Amino acid sequence: MTQPDPIEALRALEQEALERISQADDPDALERVRVAYLGRKEGRVSEILRGLGQMPSDVRPRVGQEANRVKQEIEGALEVREGEVSTAVGGAFGDLTLPAREPWRGGIHPITQAVDEIWKIFRGLGFTRARGPEADTEWYNFEALNTPLDHPAADEQDTLYLVDSVLLRSHTSPVQMRTMERHEPPIRILAPGWVYRRDTYDATHTPAFMQIEGLVIDEGVTFVDFKATLAEFARRYWGPDTQVRFRPSFFPFTEPSAEIDVKRVITRPDGSREETDWLEIMGAGMVDPAVIENAGHDPERYTGWAFGMGAARIAMLKHGVGDLRTFFENDVRFLGQFAS
Ligand code: PHE
Repeated sequence: MTQPDPIEALRALEQEALERISQADDPDALERVRVAYLGRKEGRVSEILRGLGQMPSDVRPRVGQEANRVKQEIEGALEVREGEVSTAVGGAFGDLTLPAREPWRGGIHPITQAVDEIWKIFRGLGFTRARGPEADTEWYNFEALNTPLDHPAADEQDTLYLVDSVLLRSHTSPVQMRTMERHEPPIRILAPGWVYRRDTYDATHTPAFMQIEGLVIDEGVTFVDFKATLAEFARRYWGPDTQVRFRPSFFPFTEPSAEIDVKRVITRPDGSREETDWLEIMGAGMVDPAVIENAGHDPERYTGWAFGMGAARIAMLKHGVGDLRTFFENDVRFLGQFAS
C-alpha cells in the first residue's frame, strides 16, 4: 500500500478547515477548529509538519513549504472569522467604547429666519398669519386687484401660466383679496409665501422668491397708521436709530402708493457709527377703494393699507450678503453660518 501524497493530503485538510471555519459562528467553535488542525499535540497539520524529518529528502522541502502555507492560510481565516463572530455578538450596540459622534443637526434657512423675526414683530403689533395658494387665477392675481390684464403693471409681473387662466402667483397680494372675502374687518394679517416672476437669475433677482404681504382694513384707518406702523416695524427690526422714507410710487391696487426705504445706523467693531445708504425694502400704499369693493365690503366705511416686501432682501441686508443666489445654492459652508 502506497502512502497518500502528503501535498494532496495538506490541500484536502486546508479545504476542510476553511469550510469548518466559515460555518463556525461563535468563538468556541473556532477554537475547536484551531485545535483540530493547528493544535500542538493532535493538530492534523502540525502532525504532518512533525513528520517532515522522516520524509525522503527530495520531497521534504516542498511538503514543508506547503504545510507552512496551509498553516498560515488557516490562521488567517480564523482571525477574519473571529472578527466577524465577535461583532455579531456585540452587534446590537456596536462598539460602546467609541467616543460619541456629534449629531448632525439641521438649521433654519436664513430666509425663513427673516420671515420668523418679521412675523414676531407684526404678531406683537396685533397681526395674525394668513396664507393663500401659490397657483392662483388671473382674477385674484390681477383683476380683483384692480389690474386689467392688458395693463402694463400686469406685464411687469409676467409669470408662468399653468392652464387657461391659472398661473403661479406673481405676488402675495392675492391673499389680500382672499382674506377680505372671507372675513369681515377689522383685518390685520401677515402673509408670507413664495411668488414667481419671469426674472433672470442674478445677484439681486430669482424667478421664485419669498414675499411677505401685510394688510390692515378697519374703520378709520389713515395714512398716519400706515406710516407709523411701518416706521415702528423698521425700528424694531433694525434698531431705534433707523430712518424710514416713503417715496411716491404706483401700484394699481393702492392709492396713494409708496416705495419704502430704510437708512440704518451701523456700529463698527471700533465703536464708530455710520449711516448706510437708503435701501428699498417694500412696495406699499393705502388700499384702493376698488379693491375693498371687489371683496364685497363698503369702501365708504372701511379703509386700509398694505405692503409687500422681499424676505431675501431683508436677510441680505441683515447679514451683509452680496449675492442673493448664495441663499439658494444649498452650500452648507454658507448656510451653516446661520444655523444655531
Ligand atoms: N404686490 C406688490 C409687488 O409685488 C407689492 C405691494 C403689496 C404693493 C401691497 C402695495 C401693496 O410688487
